[in-house]
Amino acid sequence: MVRNLRGRDFLTVHDFSKEELSEILLFALQLKQEKKAGLEHQLLRGKTLGMIFQKASTRTRVSFEVGMYQLGGCALFLSAADLQIGRGEPVKDTARVLSRYLDGIMIRTFDHSEVEELATFADIPVINGLTDLLHPCQAMADLMTILEQKGKLAGLKLAYLGDGNNVAHSLLLACSKMGLNIAVASPKGYEVKAEIVAKAKESAAVSGTGITLTTDPREAAAGADILYTDVWASMGQETEHQLRLKAFQQYQLNKEMLKMAADDAIVLHCLPAHRGEEITDEVIEGPQSLVFDQAENRLHVQKAIMAKLI
Ligand code: CP
Ligand code: NVA
Repeated sequence: MVRNLRGRDFLTVHDFSKEELSEILLFALQLKQEKKAGLEHQLLRGKTLGMIFQKASTRTRVSFEVGMYQLGGCALFLSAADLQIGRGEPVKDTARVLSRYLDGIMIRTFDHSEVEELATFADIPVINGLTDLLHPCQAMADLMTILEQKGKLAGLKLAYLGDGNNVAHSLLLACSKMGLNIAVASPKGYEVKAEIVAKAKESAAVSGTGITLTTDPREAAAGADILYTDVWASMGQETEHQLRLKAFQQYQLNKEMLKMAADDAIVLHCLPAHRGEEITDEVIEGPQSLVFDQAENRLHVQKAIMAKLI
């Protein structure tokens, strides 16, 4: 039985059951189909989402804003630099004030604990639009894209090559929860965090899937149904870029790496991509790449999340 999700926060996929995540994904597929057929919804009529950004964004900002409009509500872009929060007003005060005006908050920031504090003090749903630790809305769009393409999730193998970052963490949590096997290949010193692996292992024990953590990208890619990569230097790590370029050389998603995977493997990347670094132009532009469907699905899956929570 799926509980009513109204009023819940969306800080990490780990807080949701497999059934709850499935329900969101199926609703997202339905909303996508209906939108394409010209059917409009007013599920969030009269509702307002505040969107706090401490970091840059193209997809998250536009897809949340458009998603609110498409559901009959409206969205406010709130640059952290222009809010009093940027001048030191406590998160807990901001949370309580915004709760008096808004119906939901989406936040993109650095420190994950800031989002947790916001959620603790806000009495409206808080949605994580990316922190240094996690990127749960991205993982939901990724699952939706895989489900659309493969017709199932359980039993597939996803290989993530590169930095053990926010995207890798949310994929680990999402795949282990939904029954996909996941292999993560990262160089020494850039592995996924142990606290995330521990949570993913809890889910994997329930769903009966495998988690492989390795430094060997070819081992991870072998037989994979989905090959996934992300930037080697995330937002906030710009000064480490040169160092990281060297550390990650062997982890590029290129034609040779693609040959290791299943013949019908698909290629995903959360974007923005750095061609010639974590992925080659040839692979991202190639026939197995679904990166623009994946970006589109941010819109549909976030509409489903907002419609269920707000
Ligand atoms: N993938 C993603 O979150 O993109 P933006 O940084 O453009 O929002
Ligand atoms: N790992 C990347 C994802 C961007 C969507 C970052 O945090 O910059």
